Amino acid sequence: MKIFITGSNGLLGQKLLNKLQYSRLFHLIASSKGKSRVKNKCNYKYYELDITDKLAVSKLIRDVSPDVVINTAAMTNVDLCEELREKCYDLNVKAVEYLADECFKINAHLIHISTDFIFDGKSGPYKEDDQPNPLSYYGLSKLKSEKIITSHKVKYTILRTIVLFGVAENITKNNIVLWAKSALKNKEKINIIDDQFRAPTLAEDLADACILAAMKKIEGVYHVSGKDIMSIYEMVTRIAMHFNYSCDNLNRIKTNTLNQKAIRPKKTGFILEKAKHDLGYNPHSFEEALDIIDKQLIN
Ligand SMILES: NC(=O)c1ccc[n+]([C@@H]2O[C@H](COP(=O)([O-])OP(=O)(O)OC[C@H]3O[C@@H](n4cnc5c(N)ncnc54)[C@H](OP(=O)(O)O)[C@@H]3O)[C@@H](O)[C@H]2O)c1
Repeated sequence: MKIFITGSNGLLGQKLLNKLQYSRLFHLIASSKGKSRVKNKCNYKYYELDITDKLAVSKLIRDVSPDVVINTAAMTNVDLCEELREKCYDLNVKAVEYLADECFKINAHLIHISTDFIFDGKSGPYKEDDQPNPLSYYGLSKLKSEKIITSHKVKYTILRTIVLFGVAENITKNNIVLWAKSALKNKEKINIIDDQFRAPTLAEDLADACILAAMKKIEGVYHVSGKDIMSIYEMVTRIAMHFNYSCDNLNRIKTNTLNQKAIRPKKTGFILEKAKHDLGYNPHSFEEALDIIDKQLIN
């Protein structure tokens, strides 16, 4: 099976490279904007591809002719999306249409990643068919991308996920576990909100869900997150306990004391039964995931 990945410099993109490049089941082709920032790239070919460039997307997908395209590229900084709406729209919405069009033309299966931020957080945890109501432009852009795909004739899987974390090389965006671990280790005074609830997701678990979706060519929308729902404050205290750091410098705060550009949903989390049943999705617990991170950081 020939798999083409967009955004391979990112967190999910790198996890997919790690999992797929040594498997004899897959022929892997990776792409991201600019040069590859991943050092270990032996078993796949890398192309520079800006997915907002319609002609470049069309040419490369035709040349490569993949069976499956996994779109991990996105503008993921929620506050920046609020500020740079046009740029966010180009990448999170328009580019997805280019990918869907090209996949349809060559009968490839498109796997696309969406988010819990399509929901308003008033009644989480959510099922796949719950009513979306995004509070931020990022959430809206992702909902629009979903609508483009679901109303297209392309074969697709949409995997919605929540707060990704993991260890990767040269990533442009930090993630909660690495950020909190470093702040706790350095005994920095940090303010942590205790009134937003999420199910943090190990990037490897989401990568596994992408691979399962590719192998099964399963179609539809799936919720794939970690299985433990907790407040951000609890997340950080569990990280502290796991790595044996003191919580003395943690300061509990409320969301309304922050001056964030984008409004976040209060409580998300997903009901995972559909992904468990149809895909065989089986995520790690938060503590198991922290063990994995620990080992990766030591290595
Ligand atoms: N991170 C989360 O907490 C979270 C939560 C819910 C859903 N998701 C979704 O999960 C997916 C993967 O997230 P992630 O955390 O792995 O994202 P990420 O680390 O930000 O990776 C995205 C990658 O896309 C690349 N990219 C940016 N603009 C591009 C363009 N025009 N053309 C091609 N590539 C481009 C980025 O390049 P640079 O590295 O050079 O910027 C980056 O490497 C995204 O769809 C995201 O919306 C993420």
